[in-house]
Order: sequence, then structure tokens, then C-alpha cells
Amino acid sequence: MELLAPHVAGFSVSSLFEAKLARRVLGGKGSVHMTTPGLRKEEMAELAGLCDHISFNSLSQWKALFPLVQDRPACGLRINPQLALVEDARYNPCRKHSKLGVPLSALEAALTAEPGLVQGLTGIHFHTNCDCRDFKPLLATVRRLVERVGGPLKKLSWVNLGGGYMYGPETDTAPFMEAVKLLRETCGVEVFIEPGAAFARGSGRIVASVIDLFESDGASVAVLDTTVNHMPEVFEYQEPPDVAGTAADGMHKYLLAGCSCLAGDVFGEHAFNEPLTVGSQVVFYDAGAYTMPKWHWFNGISLPSVYALTPEGGVVLKKSYEYREFETHCGGR
Ligand SMILES: Cc1ncc(COP(=O)(O)O)c(C=O)c1O
Repeated sequence: MELLAPHVAGFSVSSLFEAKLARRVLGGKGSVHMTTPGLRKEEMAELAGLCDHISFNSLSQWKALFPLVQDRPACGLRINPQLALVEDARYNPCRKHSKLGVPLSALEAALTAEPGLVQGLTGIHFHTNCDCRDFKPLLATVRRLVERVGGPLKKLSWVNLGGGYMYGPETDTAPFMEAVKLLRETCGVEVFIEPGAAFARGSGRIVASVIDLFESDGASVAVLDTTVNHMPEVFEYQEPPDVAGTAADGMHKYLLAGCSCLAGDVFGEHAFNEPLTVGSQVVFYDAGAYTMPKWHWFNGISLPSVYALTPEGGVVLKKSYEYREFETHCGGR
């Protein structure tokens, strides 16, 4: 976050603690945008002091909590554009019975039936995709928004397009530019995006070591001193991560296994160019986004030490975990 801060307009956050962290890192220099289905009455005053934008997740939260913060942050509504873009329901904010955002149809109905309800509304937020490498679905979503609530949008000052797009230098940004142009020119609103993984995923690696090697039903199992609980997305997606030193035609195949008691604590079979031995390093790429915020202490296996690479190629220890932290995490003193 400290490295990114000079290059972004601000950070988006999902809780009071994240808001505090973002504000601490940014100081007075950037904006903090908050959205969560978990806004709590007792936290609103503090959030209002930390955030520049708060997007309420439902009309009921808007009614109950907007009066507590009005005129301080710019208040908006998270909406559900009801355009499902993600197949896996666990990551689909537009799934049936979604808990994320006011359904577009409900917003339209509220705007017609009770226009006063959203008095004080300054913007609209949505976040509807996951790891999408193409901006066309974003353009389709914006078109739908403009078509359905374009009139009311003209009275607002901002739209936040969320994240969920894995773009890079090779991505065709034309549909993104068109979406922004449509919002700016048709509705006169300022446009925000809040990419997460696109910025951070490639910035981290898990560096593990082999602690045991044996055969099991014809496979070579390499047990590592880490676990999928340090990279929970590997288990959630059931997709093997990218591993350094491997290739489709690698001669030395190993089932990389985590060291917890969970049978399914495995990172998949990987074909290495060189054989592994006890003590070999195994490096997992793409651990920069949803790794550290999700890792946990299952089995009491210590969390990985955190190192930073310096621009000169050096390595600086930022954090290593101790037994006491495990005990306090479990409610000990
Ligand atoms: C509201 C919101 N904005 C932005 C993001 C970032 O998404 P990603 O890391 O997929 O770009 C998320 C992730 O869940 C989110 O919930």
C-alpha cells in the first residue's frame, strides 16, 4: 500500500480496520472509498472521519445510517446491476438472492415511488466481476446502467465501477474507455475504478522448502513447509498455482503437498525441470493479492515470514511470526 499510494487516487476498503489502515498509509493525500454489507451504526462516526466516500449496500442501511453521516463523506449506493458475469456463484455478486447491492430494479422502483428517499445521494457504486481479462462486460454493465437510470445519474456526481478486471499492458482498453466516456459525457459524472488483483497479484511470492519426499500410489509427493492455508485461494478455486522452475514438458513430476492435517491440502501436480530434494526451494507466483489477507493459523503452522525485495535486489525482513501471536490469536494472553 505504501508503494502504491503515490500512484493511485486512493484506496477502497471493506471494513473499519481497512479504512483505518488506508487512511494511515495515505495520510491526508488520497481518498478512501468504503463499501460493505456490514456497516454498523456504532462505527459510522469514525468511518465518516476516515472515508471520503461511503457506498451503502441496501436501501434499509441507507435509511438507517445515512442520517448519521450525511454531509460528511460523499454518500452513494452500491447497486446490483442484475447482469451476472461470473459463472462460479461464490464470486458472483449478481447471483440470485445476492446480498451485494441494491438490485437495479429495486432502485428504479424506489426512485419512482419515493424520490425523497435518496435525497443526499451523490453516486453509484457497483462491483460485479472477478478476474475478467476483457473489459467488454464492464461496458455492457455501464450501458445497462445508463439505459435504466441514466436520468437520475445526471443528478449525481460520481460512479465507481468496482474491480474484478485483470488488465495489463496487453489488454484492449477500448471498451473501458468507451464506458468512462459514456458516463462522463452522457451523465457528467466522475468515474472511479478500484482494481485489486490487477495491481497486486503479481507482486508477491510464497517461498517454501521441501521437508519430505515419498511415493504414494505411483505419485511422488513433496511435502512443503507451507500449506494451502497460506494461499487459501488455491483451495477455494481448486486450481494449481504457477510454480517457478516448472514446464508442461518438465521431466520431474511431484504432487506438491501442504504440511497440515487436511488431506486436500495440496497444490496440484507440477512438472519440474530439475528434480527436487529435501531442502529444495519451491516458489509459488502470484501471491500478492488475496494471499496475505486470507492466510490463517490452522494446525498452528506459523504464518510465512514477510520479506520485501529492494530495488537493488536485496531482501528485507518485514515481519516474522512468533508462538505468542498464535496463542493470542486463539484467545490466550
Ligand atoms: C467492492 C470491491 N471492489 C473492488 C474489489 C477488487 O477486486 P479485484 O481484486 O478482483 O480487482 C473487490 C473484491 O472483492 C470488491 O469487493
